[in-house]
Amino acid sequence: MNRHSDGMTHHEDHDTSDVADLFTQQTWDARYAETERVWSGRPNPRLVEQVTGVPPGRALDVGAGEGADAVWLASQGWQVTALDVSEVALARTAAHAAEAGVGYRVTTLHHDLMSAAPLPPGFDLVSAQFMHPPAERFAEIHQLLGAAVRPGGLLLVVGHHPYDVTTGLRTGHGHPELLFTPDQVVAVLPATEWDVRVADASTRSVDGPDGPAVATDTVVLAVRR
Ligand SMILES: C[S@@+](CC[C@H](N)C(=O)[O-])C[C@H]1O[C@@H](n2cnc3c(N)ncnc32)[C@H](O)[C@@H]1O
Repeated sequence: MNRHSDGMTHHEDHDTSDVADLFTQQTWDARYAETERVWSGRPNPRLVEQVTGVPPGRALDVGAGEGADAVWLASQGWQVTALDVSEVALARTAAHAAEAGVGYRVTTLHHDLMSAAPLPPGFDLVSAQFMHPPAERFAEIHQLLGAAVRPGGLLLVVGHHPYDVTTGLRTGHGHPELLFTPDQVVAVLPATEWDVRVADASTRSVDGPDGPAVATDTVVLAVRR
């Protein structure tokens, strides 16, 4: 099983049927409390690909989990706000940042994206890695993320592409509608406000349930005009 930022595997394990349960503090605190480390501890490859070389500033890591991305960003000189609904995850993020010697560059923010409350504004980078909001709130949630980007700043959205359902990588979670294409993300970014630099379906090798497999990621990088 690919444990690298592969959020849907959790739901495969637990056969969660109610979509709303996938976004609660209770669900994620329990998920993180089950085991010492859920994710790999390595930064997401799409983040590294897209952000390496970008001059560091203030970054918001949305759904930061255990903090591997936040720690990587901080190690690149970014001042990071790591946002998550899970306080267990945020405690891990803070601990991992401290262990890595970048605790002074990482602030945690306990926030429920589903509350629709606005996010703090003015970030040079907002990164959402493998956040799959309910389909009916997809546009609203991504607009909230976009509103947190300063003019001239970057929005990076990475998710599992629906193609993964056909490869057997994400068959068991019961919510294939949560996977999204680059076009779905681009559709919620008005061209008057956003210059889309990357809108790709990118493949990578992963450990699948039956051995080596190819996963497809949706990767969208846009600059706010
Ligand atoms: C699939 S994990 C991805 C974690 C991390 N971005 C990664 O790629 O390893 C989704 C994360 O979103 C968080 N999350 C789920 N629902 C949320 C909500 N309503 N508000 C904020 N964060 C939420 C979870 O706690 C979890 O850490």
